[in-house]
Amino acid sequence: MSIAPPATATSDVEEMILDTVRQLVKERVEPRAAEIDEKGEFPWDIKELFAQNDLLGIPFPEEYGGLGGSFVTYVKVVEEVAKACASSSLIIAVQELGALPILIGGTDEQKRRWIPDLASGKKIAAYALTEPGSGSDAAGSMRTKARRDGDDYVLDGTKIWITQGSVADVTTVFAVTDPAKGPNGISAFVLEKGTPGFTVGKLEKKMGIRGSPTVELSFENCRVPAANMLGAEGEGFKIAMKVLDKSRPGIAAQALGIAQGALDYATEYTKQRVAFGKPISQQQGLQFMLADMKTEVEAARLLLYEAASKCDENAPDVTTWAAMAKLKCGDTAMSVTVDAVQLLGGYGYSTEYPVERMMRDAKITQIYEGTQQIQRLVIARSMVGKWSPPKP
Ligand code: CAA
Repeated sequence: MSIAPPATATSDVEEMILDTVRQLVKERVEPRAAEIDEKGEFPWDIKELFAQNDLLGIPFPEEYGGLGGSFVTYVKVVEEVAKACASSSLIIAVQELGALPILIGGTDEQKRRWIPDLASGKKIAAYALTEPGSGSDAAGSMRTKARRDGDDYVLDGTKIWITQGSVADVTTVFAVTDPAKGPNGISAFVLEKGTPGFTVGKLEKKMGIRGSPTVELSFENCRVPAANMLGAEGEGFKIAMKVLDKSRPGIAAQALGIAQGALDYATEYTKQRVAFGKPISQQQGLQFMLADMKTEVEAARLLLYEAASKCDENAPDVTTWAAMAKLKCGDTAMSVTVDAVQLLGGYGYSTEYPVERMMRDAKITQIYEGTQQIQRLVIARSMVGKWSPPKP
């Protein structure tokens, strides 16, 4: 009988990748983190660094140019980067999010067409689901339309909050093809940069993840070849949901990394800072805070690695585990970073120290890829089902 190692155990290959990532983070990412946040610009140098080190296609199959790594390795890499810079970690996470619709819903030909350039980092991906009136209620409130016209579909509508939307070469856009069919009347299309009628609009000014561009995308009479549709007409929403099952652990990893980064910084600070004649780390009130922070971080980590191994196994309950990991890690990131700021006192509130940035960055992990309330809805529905009113 063979017993699978726990997801927390690292294989030799994974350890090698993580060693490289830790070194790159120390030498190249961490020194840039404050500047990336302050300037609010996409860090092209960091994207190149990740591309050169094969970090943009870790869980993509080797036959399409990916590393053929596991989701467990992928989340550990995102976590390592996020310890120093949440914006940089998002480059890896959103490349996965943007490629997943093709990997999940695409034909072999479509995968060969788009995935190798995404795996190598030659091109950047984005995922466009959210609209001005459609966030949590992604299916019911979607207004972007796609109508068939000969060999094309014609898209009209607007998407907002699209992470990396302004730098992406390849964007999967979800649009209503049959309004009468609800979620089963939504289809997925791959749009390439420069497609006539496809424009990038307003750049959001944000509290955190300021080095990651978040933009509005508009489609006006935008013609997309039918060959760019992923799956059959009407399968788009299910593709979108299956993608989130595998991408939410990436955001959970980002959240966990932010929490760990803040905890490490605050712990060291308490050992140096003296008050009432001894390091503040020796004050019981603060020790209790540190102990609670560490316990939360380790609990979140166990949940995340388990969710990532469910992604590797394509487990039937992956939806629930992905939602639980995102919920726990996002809430942990928020509470731990707030406490880290508190442990540093006035210095914690200053931009000269990284914990205030980490606190601002943490907040988004409770909002995007499904709010914490949506994660709870998904988890509860897996327990008690979705309510449908009885038919009269
Ligand atoms: N896998 C496969 N199919 C799924 C599924 C999943 N995980 N989840 C739902 N479906 C199917 C259902 O089975 C159903 O199919 P049938 O009609 O055949 O029965 C269909 O999809 C519709 O599902 P629901 O009835 O559950 O739909 P709903 O409208 O009640 O609720 C929801 C769905 C879970 C609330 C969903 O809308 C949701 O997750 N909302 C949040 C949206 C979100 O996470 N947005 C994030 C944007 S991306 C982002 O933020 C990225 C970034 O910036 C970095």
